[in-house]
Amino acid sequence: MLHSALLNVMIKAARKAGRTLKRDFGEVEHLQVSLKGPANFVTAADRKAEETLRAELIAARPGYGFIGEEGTNITGSDTTHTWIVDPLDGTTNFLHGIPHFAISIGLKREDTVVAGLIYNPATEDMFVAERGKGAFFSDQRLRDQRMRVAARRRLADAVVTCGLPHLGHGDLALGQRETSAVQAKVAGLRRFGSAALDLAWVATGRFDAYWERSLQPWDLAAGIVIAREAGAIVTDLDGKEAMLERGEVLAANDAIHRDLLKTLKAA
Ligand code: IPD
Ligand code: CA
Ligand code: CA
Repeated sequence: MLHSALLNVMIKAARKAGRTLKRDFGEVEHLQVSLKGPANFVTAADRKAEETLRAELIAARPGYGFIGEEGTNITGSDTTHTWIVDPLDGTTNFLHGIPHFAISIGLKREDTVVAGLIYNPATEDMFVAERGKGAFFSDQRLRDQRMRVAARRRLADAVVTCGLPHLGHGDLALGQRETSAVQAKVAGLRRFGSAALDLAWVATGRFDAYWERSLQPWDLAAGIVIAREAGAIVTDLDGKEAMLERGEVLAANDAIHRDLLKTLKAA
């Protein structure tokens, strides 16, 4: 399948940053045993990836703005377009040698995310979408397969992924109320540790739903358009559109979204 010029720009940038990130991931294993641990090394890898993405994306679309988790904040001459980038989503996994992490690139036009890419360099899973044009998956074997959310309609059949509060992050008591309310109703609850991949995996139908709080725009931007283009309903936890502003998300097909929203609100 032929992608648009815009998606090709995003794919080229992600593959370039991904090659270095994958090499660095290979090194993390050796560093686990060193006294200092791999934390500093991972921070450097993260920054290097953001720098590559910034250089590639700004070279291809010179006027666009750029917001990156590692601190890049560029206001472009074209104030209607902004890249929203997480160079490494799933840092804790990366740091622990768990191959579940991703580069996430979203493009916002005015207030709407119009294109998204999520790429796991360790598995080469790539998820892309443009608003109104569908969502596509590729990996080492498959080329550009159209994505569709899972068709399961009952919470009792659903495998759901979530984020969990942890030391210094999020509301533990609320998290515990929400997870126990959901656990009682679903076939399985998971915590994989990459918000971007959680959304992408809802888009592929691997997960039936995903919710999380205390997120940042770069965790969500790309995944919102990818999941929506695959047919998911994506809202904040009030059922509204303020995902990026409130840093929270619920994504699922319409039936599961409705039931899960009710369950979470009651928790
Ligand atoms: C984190 C991951 C994780 C989520 C955290 C995020 P990072 O992003 O997406 O799944 O639970 O809230 O901060 O720090 O690995 O880029
Ligand atoms: Ca992140
Ligand atoms: Ca990050």
